[in-house]
Amino acid sequence: MDDMAAITQQRYGAEPEAVLRLVRLARPRIGADDVLVRVRASSVDRGIWHAMAGLPYPIRAVSGLRRPKGPNPGRNLAGIVAAVGAKVTGFAPGDEVYGTGTATFAEYAAARPDRLATKSAGLTFAQAATVPVCGLTALQAVRDNGRVQHGQRVLVTGAAGGVGTFAVQLAHQYGAEVTAVASTPKLDAVRALGAEHVIDYTHEDFLAGAGATTSSSTSRATAPCPTCAGRSRRSWTARTRSPRPRRRSGTCSTAAPSASSRSPCPTDGLPD
Ligand SMILES: NC(=O)c1ccc[n+]([C@@H]2O[C@H](COP(=O)([O-])OP(=O)(O)OC[C@H]3O[C@@H](n4cnc5c(N)ncnc54)[C@H](OP(=O)(O)O)[C@@H]3O)[C@@H](O)[C@H]2O)c1
Repeated sequence: MDDMAAITQQRYGAEPEAVLRLVRLARPRIGADDVLVRVRASSVDRGIWHAMAGLPYPIRAVSGLRRPKGPNPGRNLAGIVAAVGAKVTGFAPGDEVYGTGTATFAEYAAARPDRLATKSAGLTFAQAATVPVCGLTALQAVRDNGRVQHGQRVLVTGAAGGVGTFAVQLAHQYGAEVTAVASTPKLDAVRALGAEHVIDYTHEDFLAGAGATTSSSTSRATAPCPTCAGRSRRSWTARTRSPRPRRRSGTCSTAAPSASSRSPCPTDGLPD
């Protein structure tokens, strides 16, 4: 039996029940460089909703103008290696893995070996399947773009979301003092993840009075401008050309790695 159950969609739509269908398909055939994973769990993140809905519209330039090019929007997976291509090293049938693959809302999915990692025995398949896309997005924000270091202060908006929950934990692990922005019922949860301070966005506008010049997109890791807060000057000045001293306390986005591309500090232009 080389067929399998899979979830597919033939048209865009914002409601999963309206567009996703359970069907039977042939199992994917893998190439010499691929791994076939028997999927034990997958997960849904915000990006998958965008792909399913085809919204916002510019996404369709990539995902298909009239209908989805790929009928199965799943990307996250955790499961057991079922087969490996002839050129694959490092994985063997029976290995428990997690990562990203193609068309993962199915019993079997193909994945590239460099997009897989060995699943820790301490994680269930369901837990592991929540990590790949959201965790990598947070890692890119906190480690690669934010370059968060010990002693910095980091503000995570959307801290209770898929990306934000990882961003809080990562920034905490890197030794930062984390302030998390979330709604009232989730404040204790983000504290438990490592946030030392919380801001309830339903009661407080964390950009109020700051000029609102930073992006308000959720899950953006931000850190204090050292010229504002007088901390972590060395790490910040490594990425900025001419920080001005003695600004008011405030928060700057560190999502951009260089001075030329960084978002303006909310306190830019304020008198010393
Ligand atoms: N998921 C991914 O892998 C991925 C990849 C690339 C980019 N992104 C983008 O990153 C953003 C977050 O994605 P996500 O997957 O983390 O989404 P999510 O799971 O839906 O989380 C979004 C969070 O935003 C919070 N929020 C809503 N309104 C807010 C406000 N006014 N101020 C502060 N926080 C507010 C919500 O907090 P409460 O729950 O407390 O109400 C919610 O937890 C989205 O724009 C997404 O498109 C996501």
